[in-house]
Order: sequence, then C-alpha cells, then structure tokens
Amino acid sequence: MEKRLEVPTPHIEPLPHRNQISAETARVPTFAAERTPRIPPATVRHMQLIDTVSIPGADNELALYKRGKDYFIKILGGQDLMNTRAHASEDALGEIASAGLRQTRQARVLIGGLGMGFTLSAALRQLGVDAEVVVAEIVPGVIDWNRGVLAEFAGRPLEDSRTLIQAVDVAILLRNERVGFDAIVLDVDNGPDALTRASNQWLYSRKGLSVILQALRPGGALAVWSAGPDRAFTKRLQAAGFVVEEVSVRAHAGKGARHVVWLARPSSP
Ligand SMILES: C[S@@+](CC[C@H](N)C(=O)[O-])C[C@H]1O[C@@H](n2cnc3c(N)ncnc32)[C@H](O)[C@@H]1O
Repeated sequence: MEKRLEVPTPHIEPLPHRNQISAETARVPTFAAERTPRIPPATVRHMQLIDTVSIPGADNELALYKRGKDYFIKILGGQDLMNTRAHASEDALGEIASAGLRQTRQARVLIGGLGMGFTLSAALRQLGVDAEVVVAEIVPGVIDWNRGVLAEFAGRPLEDSRTLIQAVDVAILLRNERVGFDAIVLDVDNGPDALTRASNQWLYSRKGLSVILQALRPGGALAVWSAGPDRAFTKRLQAAGFVVEEVSVRAHAGKGARHVVWLARPSSP
C-alpha cells in the first residue's frame, strides 16, 4: 500500500521513524554534473513521499516521490537521481547499445542500474526474441518499485521473459562473467566523475574498464551514460583498448539538457 506523506523541507520539521531527515543527510553535496536539475525546496514540499528504501553498503536511503502523475527518485534529503518525465537520454542509451543486435543469435546484454527501467525497455525493443538482458540493480527496493508503481512508465520491462533481474552490484557480475556479453550498458551514477556512490569509481577506472573489455564477446560494445562530457574518461577508455565514439543525447526528445553516451568498442577484436 502506498504511504502518502507530505514531505517537509529538510530543515523545518523532521519526519518520525525511518523517513526522518537528519541534519546530516539534509546537507546537499555539490556534484560536478547532475542528471536532473535540483528540485527547488518549495517544489519538494508539494511532493508526496511514497516510500524510502535502504541502500546496501551506505548510510542513506533512496526516496520515491510523486507529484501529479510523475515519480521522482532522490537520495533522501539530497540529490535527484531521475524522474519519469525526462528519460529520452536513458532511452537513447539502450538503443545505442543494442542497435544492430536484432540479428545476433542469442544476444546477451548486461545493464548496470535498473533505475526506472527506460534503458532496459529501449534495449528490449531492439533485440530479438532469443536475447537475454541481465540487469544488475544494487538497491532491492528499486526493483520492488519497478514491479509496482513504476511498472507502467517503461512498459513493464521486468515482465519480459528476456529480462533477468539481479539485486547485485554490477561490478560483481562483471568480475565473475565467463560467457560474455554483446553489449554492456552502464548507467549507475551521474557519470564517471560525478559519483553518488564512491565504490562505483572502480567501474570507470582503468582496472574496471579492462575487466569490462574481457567480459565483452567479439564485436561487442560498452555504452556508458553521463550527465556531461569527461575528457579524462574518454582517454581512459582509449588507454584500456577501446575505440570510442561520443554521442550527445538530449534529456527530452529533441530538447533539454545535453548528456553524453560513450559507445566504446574493443580496438582489437
Ligand atoms: C540513474 S539510475 C539508472 C536509470 C536507468 N538507465 C533507467 O533507464 O531508468 C541508476 C541506478 O543504478 C543503481 N546502481 C547504482 N550503483 C550500482 C551498482 N554498482 N550496481 C548496480 N546498480 C547500481 C541505482 O540504485 C539506480 O537504480
């Protein structure tokens, strides 16, 4: 059942129980690049807090808010992660990563970060009936939201028989992969340099990229979402053995903020 709580601005009146916003979590950190514009406090006050879920390995929680017919995922008392209004760049990520795989027999795709399921849905639209899409989502509560109130927004991709969802850090799957993927898709953060979760840094590091390279099948590709450009990351990809294409994608169809998708293919097959 949905909890419908009016959310106070963090510094006024903390809510009781697990929805309480402490002075510590209310302090909003500054990030190099962000996925969605920070929601002004006055607007937050008009949102309903639907649920909060704990983030494994972290002190804070993820919160699901609702305003009108739209939902917003935020770090409780802090940064916005994404919403159901602006998802054109997440769609583009799934399309770019899976384009050309429809004819590939038993194509395998790994997606790091379920979020609201838009990238997963876009990938499924590109793929054949015998494909498999493994999705790693580190926050089990996010998977529950996608099976519940968020399900319709991306067209219920978790119910697609080609989807295999796992509540796990994508880094663990990458380190243990033996069969190989035709596409690896990463959207676990705001980008290589705008980390909301410090442990994700490994994924974008030289070591992480070489593990990803090993996990790709011949002809495979890595696609990475970022809120903004990052020249150092492009150079790291190249140094790790990838040929890199940088694609500019918009937050809304044809308008809005410009985000970046790196499409990286092994330089030697
Ligand atoms: C911005 S959202 C992804 C949005 C997604 N592309 C979509 O279409 O909705 C990032 C997601 O990655 C998850 N995440 C963060 N770090 C992760 C990790 N290391 N492994 C798996 N999931 C992770 C977060 O919990 C969040 O659900």
